[in-house]
Amino acid sequence: MFRTHTCGELTSKEIGNTVELAGWVQRSRDLGGMTFIDLRDRYGITQLTFNADQNAELAERANKLGREFVIQIKGKVIERSNKNKNIPTGEIEIMVEILTILNTAKLPPFTIEDETDGGDELRMQYRYLDIRRNPVRDNLMLRHKVSLEVRNFLDKKGFLDVETPVLIKSTPEGARDFVVPSRMNQGLFYALPQSPQTFKQLLMVSGIDRYYQIVKCFRDEDLRADRQPEFTQIDCEMAFVEQNDILDTFEGLIKHVFKTVKNIEFSDAFPRISYQEAMERFGSDKPDIRFEMEFVDFTAMAKGKGFPVFDDANSVLAINVAGCADYTRKQLDELTEWVKRPQIGAKGLIYAKYNLDGTIKSSVDKFYDEAALKEWMMAANAKPGDLLLLLCGELEKTRKQLSELRLYLGNSLGLRDPSVFKPLWVTDFPLLEWDEDNNRFHAMHHPFTSPKPEDMDLIDTDPGKVRANAYDLAMNGVELGGGSIRIHDKALQSRMFDLLGFTKEEAQAQFGFLMTAFEYGAPPHGGLAFGLDRLVATLGGSESIRDYIAFPKNNSGKDTMIDAPSPISAEQLKELGVKLT
Ligand code: AMO
Repeated sequence: MFRTHTCGELTSKEIGNTVELAGWVQRSRDLGGMTFIDLRDRYGITQLTFNADQNAELAERANKLGREFVIQIKGKVIERSNKNKNIPTGEIEIMVEILTILNTAKLPPFTIEDETDGGDELRMQYRYLDIRRNPVRDNLMLRHKVSLEVRNFLDKKGFLDVETPVLIKSTPEGARDFVVPSRMNQGLFYALPQSPQTFKQLLMVSGIDRYYQIVKCFRDEDLRADRQPEFTQIDCEMAFVEQNDILDTFEGLIKHVFKTVKNIEFSDAFPRISYQEAMERFGSDKPDIRFEMEFVDFTAMAKGKGFPVFDDANSVLAINVAGCADYTRKQLDELTEWVKRPQIGAKGLIYAKYNLDGTIKSSVDKFYDEAALKEWMMAANAKPGDLLLLLCGELEKTRKQLSELRLYLGNSLGLRDPSVFKPLWVTDFPLLEWDEDNNRFHAMHHPFTSPKPEDMDLIDTDPGKVRANAYDLAMNGVELGGGSIRIHDKALQSRMFDLLGFTKEEAQAQFGFLMTAFEYGAPPHGGLAFGLDRLVATLGGSESIRDYIAFPKNNSGKDTMIDAPSPISAEQLKELGVKLT
């Protein structure tokens, strides 16, 4: 063994003992005669001391140590004269007697400190150095704890961890597949799983009954702060259950994780609201309910008063920004510019200020008299001092825009406290969504999702209105997970493929294996998958999942450290029977 202790554990209890430590040189200070070195490992930092009066040769060698050199020392634990209350080892230091250099190091391209001078790209290129930094390492430790507690909980509930293959046939979850050419079967391709969806359903047919897997999934889609091309799901499935059984079980899982990892207790049941209610109140299927600012529908009140913009719009929606009637002209102009950016796409922003003296000032007071504006204030439950902001247009777009504005204001007003966690279930998603571009329906969740039995007769008459037994768990504005009760009946599954525009032959070619399996006694089943990266990032108080993944991809889907993706040789291409165009 290179060490008797780690760099994070020695305290005044060990004073007088001789110890051995190994680690990296974080920092060194030569105070003329005395040299101090901070020695770092995964567990902490311990101060080493070299006294030139006692051992000049040793002190000189210590002075030559560079940042990030790997060293091993032997020495005596002594009381520190200048104690550091901020670290657990701050009461002691080691008077070094033997110093061994295990390895030298080039000067790192950025400082290995909590606050580093390294930009994102540089940190990604040297990710192994980035992981030496406390914040990144702490994130990985958090991730480890979460995975461990997920396994503990699911194991106790009788879930079996079953691995499913990575070289598979495409499972449509709405994104593009990553594909892998087959050398042995030239011209044919595997797809990497977007999720193990069909396999976990097959495992239910197999009688596994309760399955889980912490599993890599792959989706070739545009990246955002909460999306990576390869990410990890906590993927789960259960047989002989109804929707509420699933929600209760996995609410239990999330509560267990928060309790064991963060010591946060959710004493109440998570709220459950329908998709429709979520859209009406927040314009989002993953609302952040840490703050209010709920939507108020002004359409009926605002139309027909001669203001052409509202008269031409099919919906007018408002939010009450409490306490912000003192927003200046400049601030309102900035908000207007913000909603007009192409990413948001609103045409403009209307305001009405409920001044503290009870008067109302609005950008449209030419069209709405005092009484009409008072009516607005009543409808939005506004008090003097509040500010109403209104957007209008086509309903779905307006909801989306106002939801973005709501989150933007939530951020700028400090209403999205990362140490507060507000989960909620969103249920009853529509079964299908209309794809304007291709003039056809898509499955909103995936094609194996069961329609609600009470909506079944709409399937033939008004398929767009059919609701599904599908649900998401949202927290703090993030979709943490989602799932559904599945179709377990062959005839209904084929009807669904039909609705989605698959011909009988296409459905057979793509999903024949599943439909065949359904002929051999498929139990009623359902499940869900959580995004592990998102769960951990949310627990860590961040919206970006990248810092919770050891080796993430950048926004162009590249790993700049190993330089992937990269070209392959002409021989490899030939072997695979692949020609580049
Ligand atoms: P879904 O597609 O909703 O469902 O995915 C489940 C959860 O996975 C996470 N997630 C992602 N995380 C990071 N990067 C991505 N690109 C990404 N895509 C998804 C989200 C999401 O809620 N098979 C179904 C589950 C089921 O029905 O049981 C599925 O994959 O947190």
